[in-house]
Amino acid sequence: MVLEAIQYDPASENAPPSLRVLDQLQLPHRTTFEQIKTCEEAHDAIKKMKVRGAPAIAIVAALALAVEVGSSVVQHQLPHSPEEVRTTLGGRLDYLQTSRPTAVNLGDAVGKLKVVAQNAASKSDASAASVAQAYIVAAERMLVDDVSDNRAIGEYGARWIEANTAAGRKRRSDRHAELKVLTHCNTGSLATAGYGTALGVIRSLRASDNLTRAYCTETRPYNQGSRLTAFELVHDDIPATLVTDSMACALLAKEKDSLAAIVVGADRVAANGDTANKIGTYSLAVLARHHGVKFLVAAPRTTIDRHTLSGADIVIEQRAPEEVTRIKGPKVDDNGKILIDEGSELISTAASGIEVWNPAFDVTPAHLIDGVITEVGVVEKKDGKFDFEAIFT
Ligand code: MRU
Repeated sequence: MVLEAIQYDPASENAPPSLRVLDQLQLPHRTTFEQIKTCEEAHDAIKKMKVRGAPAIAIVAALALAVEVGSSVVQHQLPHSPEEVRTTLGGRLDYLQTSRPTAVNLGDAVGKLKVVAQNAASKSDASAASVAQAYIVAAERMLVDDVSDNRAIGEYGARWIEANTAAGRKRRSDRHAELKVLTHCNTGSLATAGYGTALGVIRSLRASDNLTRAYCTETRPYNQGSRLTAFELVHDDIPATLVTDSMACALLAKEKDSLAAIVVGADRVAANGDTANKIGTYSLAVLARHHGVKFLVAAPRTTIDRHTLSGADIVIEQRAPEEVTRIKGPKVDDNGKILIDEGSELISTAASGIEVWNPAFDVTPAHLIDGVITEVGVVEKKDGKFDFEAIFT
């Protein structure tokens, strides 16, 4: 089975494109795909985190609008002029961008797709259909490009770890030496169009027979680590161990010689390298520095936001208190018997009335980050500072 969170079929004959997303709220217990026909449905799926992960959010939003526009083409309901199509696309993209605020990939995709529509509409031979078609082609391209970008990130990250970490160098001279990597949240096939960013690095290390074990954190409160990353690691048969977030410090103390690096993804990397990622990332970076373990961020260039100067300017999404005060558990009958096959329900784990702080992300300061792994190479600090300009030229 190929692990994928996004299933997309381009238009054929008189059928419009179609989009399905894996409902990640049901994982690891159920693999259920949900059809997305409108931008409202995509907005809802992103907000409720049925689909999540910075690249996946952007791609689903872009493709949902491709489905909407493709359906209008098939039903002959496109606005009449190229300019009207461009304006409609722009409005729909603006709406999609309001679904979740922290990951920059969505804003980046919105900006690029608006330029595509603008360029198509300003051609001398533009028609409503040609603007729609240009948009659809560009949105579909994002799905394809993300997989190849992730594979490149995986390769660059794996080679960097092999060459630049103590455990990596040791393994080069001794094939029995351990090389372990810890990751946080979910950055794999479920968070992207496929393969993954930080999890792509783990996959590439495994492919070159240079990973002896991956550790994944549970990632409270949404449990992307235990539900999703653990699911991917088991799926790929990668030797892996799950730890709760609070075990990370003890794990680093015990494994610091064999733990080559902590590799995480990102939702937004500011121009100075400060990185917003899943809550708990910052603590791991502090632990890594304390134990002399390398700390790496793996992200496509679309996650690097050169317009945001530092982490202080990144908007951090606050989520509902219920994500902290309740967990999903199996249904039980009146006699307390667990009903395994009847889905799950929310169970309260906190004293009723307690106030909750639930930021979805935190910001890791650049000085704690050893490198940012992108699809064009690993950016390291020079004179203590990140400079991303060279990877955009
Ligand atoms: O709230 P989520 O699950 O969307 O958060 C996901 C993360 O923080 C990931 O690390 C990040 O988006 C990178 S995914 C390749």
